[in-house]
Amino acid sequence: MTIKRLEDYLQSFFNEEKKSLLSNYPGLTLHRLRSDIKLHAFLNGVDSEELFEFPYIPHRTNPITFFLEKLSVGVPLEYITGYAYFYRSLFKVTPDVLIPRSETEILVELTSQEIQKNYRNKICRLVDVGTGSGVIALTLMMEDFAILDVVATDISDKALTLAKENFFNLRYAISAKHNIKFLKRDRLQDLEGNFDIILSNPPYIKRLKDLASIHHQVLSYEPAMALFLDDDLYDQWFEDFFRSIYQKLTPEGMSLIEGHEDHLAGLSETALKLGFAKVEIIKDYTGRNRFLRLKK
Ligand SMILES: C[S@@+](CC[C@H](N)C(=O)[O-])C[C@H]1O[C@@H](n2cnc3c(N)ncnc32)[C@H](O)[C@@H]1O
Repeated sequence: MTIKRLEDYLQSFFNEEKKSLLSNYPGLTLHRLRSDIKLHAFLNGVDSEELFEFPYIPHRTNPITFFLEKLSVGVPLEYITGYAYFYRSLFKVTPDVLIPRSETEILVELTSQEIQKNYRNKICRLVDVGTGSGVIALTLMMEDFAILDVVATDISDKALTLAKENFFNLRYAISAKHNIKFLKRDRLQDLEGNFDIILSNPPYIKRLKDLASIHHQVLSYEPAMALFLDDDLYDQWFEDFFRSIYQKLTPEGMSLIEGHEDHLAGLSETALKLGFAKVEIIKDYTGRNRFLRLKK
């Protein structure tokens, strides 16, 4: 066997597997692959500028072999490295949680604007329903405009454990003036008191109707609990959720909910029917309906 430099091996691997790689990782480039391998190697104790000059010997104990094998079968890059970038930070992710999406950064940005406008140097009570890896709540806590009293809920024990781990990993980037509690709850059930801001990126894909539009990699690897609701329960699930938001929101409060482009118009009708005075559909950067902003 001729032993190649990792760089040469990687280039042949990328050229030979390009078609299947691009079907699983649209837009993947050799450059991105190199930087993810570097991150993966770093997280496995190899931090070297010369990494790609080293001779590469495929072996099942070699973390690069592990990486390339997972890549060949289509495992999302973030689940291979175990980390995902969100906003300005790196969060740990596992197959127990959704990989955070760039659209959700808009939800964080809009919330940050609301905090700066209405809660500067004041206490702001905020809840993140379905926190997953904790990206929404923890990213907002890394900002310093208000004093955040946060509750992060999920129905998944594994997600809550991971969110707590991310809180621990990011603790030096979070001011001690903020406070967070992680609670296992169905939506807002049994939470004490009212909230100034209610956020959620809930499961919002209809299990049957929307199935055809979901990328096979998402279906194969991301947790169903984070993605889907049964078609026949969908409207009731959101109606119950919005009713509890109405009850738990302070009079001047704001709720921001991420949703499916095809269903937000219907859900905005539901919110109006429940008594919200201001219901806005907000688009993402691709021009698709993506969020509902609710005010009383
Ligand atoms: C789309 S993921 C969002 C994760 C994370 N907030 C993000 O934006 O990347 C939805 C999350 O909601 C949680 N979830 C599903 N049903 C729930 C419920 N009834 N109450 C609370 N959380 C729920 C899932 O476990 C999952 O972590």
